[in-house]
Amino acid sequence: MPVHIKKKTSYSSSDHLVVFCTSEQEQTALFSAKERDYIRSCAKNEKSLAEINQYDRRVFVVLKDLLFGRKSEKRAEYEIIEALRKVGCQIAKNLNDNKIAEVVIVDTIGEKTAPLAIAEGMSLGSYQFLHYLSNGGKKKNTLQTIHIVSNGVTSENARQLSAIAEATCVARDLVNEPVSFLTSVQLSEELQKLGKETGIKVEVMNKAKIEKLKMGGILAVNKGSIDPPTFTVLEWKPKNAQNKKPFVLVGKGIVYDTGGLSLKPTPGSMDAMKCDMSGAAAVAGTMYALAKNKSPVHVVGLVPSTDNRPGGNAYTPGDVITISDGTTIEVLNTDAEGRLILADALHYAKRYNPQLVIDLATLTGACVAALGVAVSGLMGTADEAVKRELKESGLSVYERLAELPFWDDYAELIKSDIADMKNIGGKYAGAITAGKFLEKFTKDKDGNHAYPWIHLDIAGTAFLDNADSYRGKSGTGVGVRLLVDFLTKKNKITQ
Ligand code: BES
Ligand code: ZN
Ligand code: ZN
Repeated sequence: MPVHIKKKTSYSSSDHLVVFCTSEQEQTALFSAKERDYIRSCAKNEKSLAEINQYDRRVFVVLKDLLFGRKSEKRAEYEIIEALRKVGCQIAKNLNDNKIAEVVIVDTIGEKTAPLAIAEGMSLGSYQFLHYLSNGGKKKNTLQTIHIVSNGVTSENARQLSAIAEATCVARDLVNEPVSFLTSVQLSEELQKLGKETGIKVEVMNKAKIEKLKMGGILAVNKGSIDPPTFTVLEWKPKNAQNKKPFVLVGKGIVYDTGGLSLKPTPGSMDAMKCDMSGAAAVAGTMYALAKNKSPVHVVGLVPSTDNRPGGNAYTPGDVITISDGTTIEVLNTDAEGRLILADALHYAKRYNPQLVIDLATLTGACVAALGVAVSGLMGTADEAVKRELKESGLSVYERLAELPFWDDYAELIKSDIADMKNIGGKYAGAITAGKFLEKFTKDKDGNHAYPWIHLDIAGTAFLDNADSYRGKSGTGVGVRLLVDFLTKKNKITQ
C-alpha cells in the first residue's frame, strides 16, 4: 500500500512530529532545556536532523540552517530541496524501525516546498518490494499516513504529491517484477489494469497486429522468444487538455535482455536485466500520475515489448531486417536490441503529429560508463528551450540530465555496406551512436524531422545495485517525477 500524504489543520500532543528549526530560533515550547541542548549539539556537529524520543512520541527536528549551507557556500534551491527529501527518507527509516504508522510535519512559517520535500522523501523512502518474500508481512513498513500542517500547503498540493509518489512506486513495482511473471503479455495486462483504475485508454496490439504493421524490429528481437511480443498504446486525453498536439512518450519494454545470440558475456552482467523495461515503466508511471491528478494535458504512451533471448529461431548477427518505415538494418550484435524495437515505435509515433516525442530507454552500457548511475543521458532534436526546460525539471526533482553531443558525424559510425544502417557503432561513443540510430526513425521519407524529439538513456539510473537514499535499491522509477514535472509545467504553453 502506498503512503498517503494529506493536509491537516491541527495536531495533538501525542502525534509524532517533524518540525523545522534554525539554530537560533528553536521551537522552545516543544522541548525541555536538555532537549534544546541536544538540538544545539546536533547543529554544532553539522547534523541536519535531531531525533528526540519523548517517550509518548518522537519529534524529528530538521535543522534548516545546515541544509541551506554556510553563507560562504550557499547551496542552490534544488540542492536544498534534495537534502530535505533525503532527511525525509532518514525520518521514514526511523518511523518504520519503531513501527509507527502516522506522522505530522508541522511548518509554523507556512512554507510549501520544505514540508512537501520532506513528505516526498519519506513516502518514496518507505517503498518496499515484498511480493516474493514468504514472510513479507513481518518485514512490512508501518508508515501509512504523512500529515502536513502548513499554511503554505493546500490539500490539493498534498494529494497531487501523494499521487506522484504512488506513480513512482507503480513504476518501481513493474521494474522489480522478474520476467517469470512480467512477460510482454503480462506487462500489457498490467498497463490495462492501470488504465481501468485511472481512465487512461489502453489498446494492446498483439503479434498479428504487429506483423500487419510490419514492425520488423520488434519481430526480429522476438524471434528467439517463446512468448509473443506486444505493443501497447496508452492515451490520456482529458476534455480540458491545453495542448492541441499531443506529447508522445515512448518506453523501451524489453522485459528481459539476455543479449540474444550475442549473449551477455561478463559474469553478473545479466543479473539485473529484468530492468530493461524501465523506460516502459516510466511511461506507465507518468501517465498514471497525470491521470490520477486529472492533469489537463494530452499524452500518448507507446510501449513496444518483448524479451531478448537466444533460441532455435533467434535473430542472428549478420541478419538484415526491415523496420516498419522501410529502413533496412544489418544486425551485427543482437544485444543492441532496444534500438530495434524503439525504431518501430518512433516511426509509429508520427501518426499522432506530436508536439514533442520523448523516449526513455535503458539503452546502453556506454551511457553508464560516461555518466554513472546518478545522471541520465539526454540527446535529441528538440529545440534548446525544450531541452533547457527538461534539464530544469531534472534539477527540480533531482533526476538530473546531462546532454551528450549529437552532431551528424556520429551517424557515420552506423553506416552499413549492405543495408541502410547497422545496429552498432564502433568502440567509442556508444550512447550517442545508439541515439543517432534512433534519430533516423524520427524523420520522414524526405529525411526531415517529423517531430521534435528527445531521447533519454536511463541505463544507469533505472536500477541501483546499492540504495541511494529515497531512490532505494533496485528499480528507482526514474523518469516519472521528471516527466510529470516537465509536462505539467510545459502544459502552460499552449501549442
Ligand atoms: N539493455 C542493455 C543496456 C544496459 C546496460 C541497460 C546496463 C542497463 C544497464 C542494452 O540492450 C545493451 O545490451 N546494449 C549494448 C549495446 C552494444 C551491444 C552496442 C551495450 O551497451 O553493451
Ligand atoms: Zn541488449
Ligand atoms: Zn537492452
